[in-house]
Amino acid sequence: MKLTVAMTVVLTTVLSGLIHGYDCKIVQFIFGDSLSDNGNNNRLTKSFAQAALPWYGIDYGSGMPNGRFTNGRTVSDIIGDKIGLPRPPAFLDPSLSEDVILANGVNFASGGGGILNETGGLFIQRFSMYKQIELFRGVQTLIRGSIGDKEADKFFQEAKYVVALGSNDFINNYLMPVYADSWTYNDDTFIGYLMETLGEQLTVLHGMGVRELMVFGLGPMGCIPLQRVLSTSGGCQEKTNTLALSFNKATAKLMDDLSAKLPNASYKFGDAYDVVNNIITNPSKYGFDNADSPCCSFGRIRPALTCIPASRLCKDRSKYLFWDEYHPSDHANEMIADELIRKLGFKTVNQTNGDSPSPTSAPAPSDD
Ligand SMILES: *[C@@H]1O[C@H](CO)[C@@H](O)[C@H](O)[C@H]1NC(C)=O
Ligand SMILES: *[C@@H]1O[C@H](CO)[C@@H](O)[C@H](O)[C@H]1NC(C)=O
Ligand SMILES: *[C@@H]1O[C@H](CO)[C@@H](O)[C@H](O)[C@H]1NC(C)=O
Repeated sequence: MKLTVAMTVVLTTVLSGLIHGYDCKIVQFIFGDSLSDNGNNNRLTKSFAQAALPWYGIDYGSGMPNGRFTNGRTVSDIIGDKIGLPRPPAFLDPSLSEDVILANGVNFASGGGGILNETGGLFIQRFSMYKQIELFRGVQTLIRGSIGDKEADKFFQEAKYVVALGSNDFINNYLMPVYADSWTYNDDTFIGYLMETLGEQLTVLHGMGVRELMVFGLGPMGCIPLQRVLSTSGGCQEKTNTLALSFNKATAKLMDDLSAKLPNASYKFGDAYDVVNNIITNPSKYGFDNADSPCCSFGRIRPALTCIPASRLCKDRSKYLFWDEYHPSDHANEMIADELIRKLGFKTVNQTNGDSPSPTSAPAPSDD
């Protein structure tokens, strides 16, 4: 009797595998903020952090806003393309289904989100890291129901994971006096609090089968246009840059510690701080004309928080480091992606590990 039950389970699992035609493609799951968001916040109707209006997305696909907080591709888009991974659709993309997830992965990134739950509270709606993990748990349940535990374990263990958060924990929390964390902590204790939280989150992910994970560090966030307007000289906020460097150092150590502690975990850290800093110091050497102001800006009324239809665009978008007050341009993202690929030693993913390549039904529009 027991045997029959077991055989039925096996048979069902095999059959559902055949029906769904999975071949355990390698896909990626992305946890992040506006630097990686590709449409989640545009579907959070109460969120104040959205890239829903022109001229966001002007250099991507049809040129209409697609949820990315830049003119073109995000860093994750570019890295995925270069190493041969499909672009995962946003979790809130209406076309998301088991088949789409198995072929492309999922992007949980949300503008305004941070490592801490309380970060970005002023944006009202956003997925913080814990919320993104909760959504990932739901995705796992769905996939387990669809292809069975054994195949699902393999699928999730072979997948690649990106975690790219942290700037909002500073810009939209610790450095803003309206948030309690700004007066509860000092620089050291705040970074300690972030590391404790991130360590817990990445341990939870390991328990869910995550093995190959990359954490992206912070850039010189004291030099984003929004920070520069805080000083009369328009220079970078050195205190903010120091925080980014401390965060990067602590995160690198955390990844070493977790990789040593968690069985089979390959948790890596990479940052592009120096590359961006080099562009800021010497823009023309790297093919940029401007490294201190946004390409999309609303004249002298700054900081206009986002790029809006009434904004004026710079003449050549590929020559600007910054697209808006917070976010790098497509060209800058490409340089950041190249540096991360180099630092993290990404290898091209070989998808021909099954007998039949599964059709990709990526709902994300491709750029040109
Ligand atoms: C953070 O938010 C999640 C829900 O997204 C909740 O389950 C968790 O308890 C919260 N953690 C803390 C430390 O507040
Ligand atoms: C670690 O990898 C080995 C070899 O692939 C495997 O037998 C073992 O179950 C894995 N352990 C965990 C916790 O994933
Ligand atoms: C990918 O893997 C297949 C099967 O293992 C192998 O035949 C093929 O040469 C590999 N391709 C590359 C580019 O490594």
